[in-house]
Amino acid sequence: MSELRELREQPYDLVVTGVRLVSGDGVVTGGLAVSGGRIACLLGPNERPPARRTLDGGGRHLLPGLIDSHVHFRTPGLTHKEDWAHASRAAVAGGITTVVDMPNTVPPLRTGEEAHRKAELVDGTSLVDYRFHLGVAGEDPSPLREVGAREATSVKVFLAGHHTAPHVVRDPVQLEKVFRTAAEAGLRLLLHAEDDGVFSLLDEWRGAPSGYAEYERHRPRSGAIVAVARVLELVRRHGTSVHVLHASTAEEADLLTAGAHAGLPVTFEVTPHHLSFTAEDTSRVGARTRLSPAIRYRPDQDRLWQAVLAHEVATLGSDHAPHTRAEKLRAPADAPPGLPGVQEMFPAVHTGLRRRAPMDSPDAQLSCLVRLLAEHPAELFGLDERKGRLRPGLDADFVLFDADERWMLEPDAIRSKCGWSAYEGWTMTGRVRQTFRRGVSVYRLDELGHDVEFGTPDGRWLDARRPADVEPR
Ligand code: DOR
Ligand code: ZN
Repeated sequence: MSELRELREQPYDLVVTGVRLVSGDGVVTGGLAVSGGRIACLLGPNERPPARRTLDGGGRHLLPGLIDSHVHFRTPGLTHKEDWAHASRAAVAGGITTVVDMPNTVPPLRTGEEAHRKAELVDGTSLVDYRFHLGVAGEDPSPLREVGAREATSVKVFLAGHHTAPHVVRDPVQLEKVFRTAAEAGLRLLLHAEDDGVFSLLDEWRGAPSGYAEYERHRPRSGAIVAVARVLELVRRHGTSVHVLHASTAEEADLLTAGAHAGLPVTFEVTPHHLSFTAEDTSRVGARTRLSPAIRYRPDQDRLWQAVLAHEVATLGSDHAPHTRAEKLRAPADAPPGLPGVQEMFPAVHTGLRRRAPMDSPDAQLSCLVRLLAEHPAELFGLDERKGRLRPGLDADFVLFDADERWMLEPDAIRSKCGWSAYEGWTMTGRVRQTFRRGVSVYRLDELGHDVEFGTPDGRWLDARRPADVEPR
């Protein structure tokens, strides 16, 4: 508390007025003051304390800086696809101020020491703050016991592989060890829950897909359902805290919701692309929406939206996984799955919510997004003492958002190094106008919506605490 009092006694660095402050519980009119990179206090509608700089939000919404807990920024080793400088520009343009990066790089990220080396590589190139998920493969998982919360609180496991995911845990005995070790070490497991064995069996019988019209059928829902059922059984046996990534089918949403309802420590994520596209789009546009897991048909998409609206989903994650145009133009069997999404996620899902929940007020829709993209990821990954809310004492990360502005994603506005987007030509509702990270503007769009100004790439490798629900045993 004394730190807070100190913040209040200093002259404010920045005061934002005339905004609608969004939290997961609702929206209030007011403003906030910033000191030393933190939120010093929230302000009522008529409070305008003196400050070095002021910003009048003109009645727009102010959201906490968003957290994308599922990105592949490709450092090290895959920087021809994406690099941190481009990716973090894409992030702040999409209202994201913190990312948690995936370990399937070259080499993969497996230890606390490697996390320190990776942070050195990223240092000085990032507009956003960041953390890393560690990875495991088929080898002995016991080194995970040595990992401190400083380095990581979460470990990603691939149960199915593909071009950029060669390290898969296929052996059931090894998988069991990973679940047990993670539970003992107090690490949350993140699962790519699709069963490789199911896919190989089917491919051996039917042959590999010849075109995108067949793609979904060759990475079918059975692979995801089998894997999720297995994961639930392992959670039941070992008590491991698990977050299932990119749920794509109705059955996964049902099983995971039922598991949580039964008291298992399971949560799940949905991606913007599974909410935005269907398998018909993949047949039509091909490689751009070739994803792992595959994009499904309308009834699955409807169930995923229902899961978002019914508070069954814990987080949205972009699964920002760019590949070059040339890689995507390869023959279907060789074109890698993945698409960029860190820039598109927030406006695309906001646009979808407007359509899917027209009876909800714009305020309620934004509260829903703040839960999924700020509060919940901060809690799941131990960042909630610094990130995720507009609350005095927390980092002054926030996004000025015009919820009614309609705009089109033009090719020259794409910030990812890959230079393409599956959402090109989409008309979006709701636009990020300005993004602040630790009190400093890192992205600003001019009033006409053409020119942008990025800040200094001084994003930090964040410390985190072990979330209370994954205490070591
Ligand atoms: O489509 C995907 N692309 N799914 C993954 O699991 C990984 C990602 C990538 O790294 O390209
Ligand atoms: Zn991913």
